[in-house]
Amino acid sequence: MLLLVFCIGGEKIYNMNELKLINVSKLYKVGSYLSRTYVEAVKNINLEFDMNTPFIFTLAGESGSGKSTLAKLVLGIEKVTSGELIFNSKNIDNMEKQERKNYLKNVQPVFQNPFETFNPLRTVISYLYTTAIKCGNISTPGKKEEAQAIVQTNLDRVGLSYQEVEGKYPHEFSGGQLQRLSIARALIPSPKLLIADEPVSMVDASLRMSIVNLFKDLKDKYGVSIIYITHDLATAYYISDYIAIMLRGQIIERGDVENVLMRPLHPYSQLLKESILQPVPNKRRKGRARKASFEVEEFNLPGCKFTERCSFAEDICRRENPKEYYVEGRTVRCFLYEGEESSP
Ligand SMILES: Nc1ncnc2c1ncn2[C@@H]1O[C@H](COP(=O)(O)OP(=O)(O)O)[C@@H](O)[C@H]1O
Ligand code: SF4
Ligand SMILES: [Mg+2]
Repeated sequence: MLLLVFCIGGEKIYNMNELKLINVSKLYKVGSYLSRTYVEAVKNINLEFDMNTPFIFTLAGESGSGKSTLAKLVLGIEKVTSGELIFNSKNIDNMEKQERKNYLKNVQPVFQNPFETFNPLRTVISYLYTTAIKCGNISTPGKKEEAQAIVQTNLDRVGLSYQEVEGKYPHEFSGGQLQRLSIARALIPSPKLLIADEPVSMVDASLRMSIVNLFKDLKDKYGVSIIYITHDLATAYYISDYIAIMLRGQIIERGDVENVLMRPLHPYSQLLKESILQPVPNKRRKGRARKASFEVEEFNLPGCKFTERCSFAEDICRRENPKEYYVEGRTVRCFLYEGEESSP
């Protein structure tokens, strides 16, 4: 892994652009006062991102598997219940105000619904302009020309011109255009990482690929890394370098996208792949790839989270949660691979 360490006047300044999640878990309280219980929405996640080499990392999995919660933890919207989130050797919960501000500039969200990004009562350009004044890298705060240049540069990056956007309110744009504008907004603070949570699911089907291609361009041309959250494995395969598949709060398989999607090892990943290969929607296997219904008790059961849907399940699967085994170039959380481990 590439670590950059600069020394100025003998003082070490770390510029590693590294984000690490160490055993990260998030518990939500649910239920009323009398029947209070917990959902472990994210459980023991370990991930490392080196933004010195730009990447697209997909987080996939069915609804309720914890993808958005994981995104919110990285974005600092939610706090981890246990574990550590480390950016450039510092736990984000222990950062000084300025350090945390710097971290939050480096990780920017792109949400599912672009209409929620913008204030409906303000023109989009004035919103972008304010973002540039507040968060853009402006040497003299408030300098109008610089803010305008930042807005223009980032509109350019998403394929829109100042003239197309000037004077218009959010409702005057299509969903696809507005998602581009929300990506432009996210780029203004010059982030290292964009976290895009289902960014094309509300965009017209005919425009989805253009947004997906835009993410590719942002990585290739501007060195921005992307965590792309989706349950659409086809676009995931098309743009990603790496993928992690989540199930009930846990990552059950992760690695190089080619390995994981073309030769999945975990029975759940195999099922996901199989379900996208079924050509006729009404002939897709119902029940097995179903959207899970999340009874809290079921969510928190011990053992492998796939037990009740797995045709290979044995007693141990109901009792114990499998650890991550490193097999054939990826990690997989399944007892079937015990004893088949190789070195990373
Ligand atoms: N604020 C919350 N309070 C209680 N439970 C939540 C909250 N947010 C998410 N959950 C629960 O956590 C689990 C994971 O949700 P989420 O992260 O939204 O999954 P995904 O994005 O994969 O659909 C679900 O069971 C969901 O109901
Ligand atoms: S651990 Fe057991 S239940 Fe879980 S996926 Fe593997 S074989 Fe199936
Ligand atoms: Mg979600």
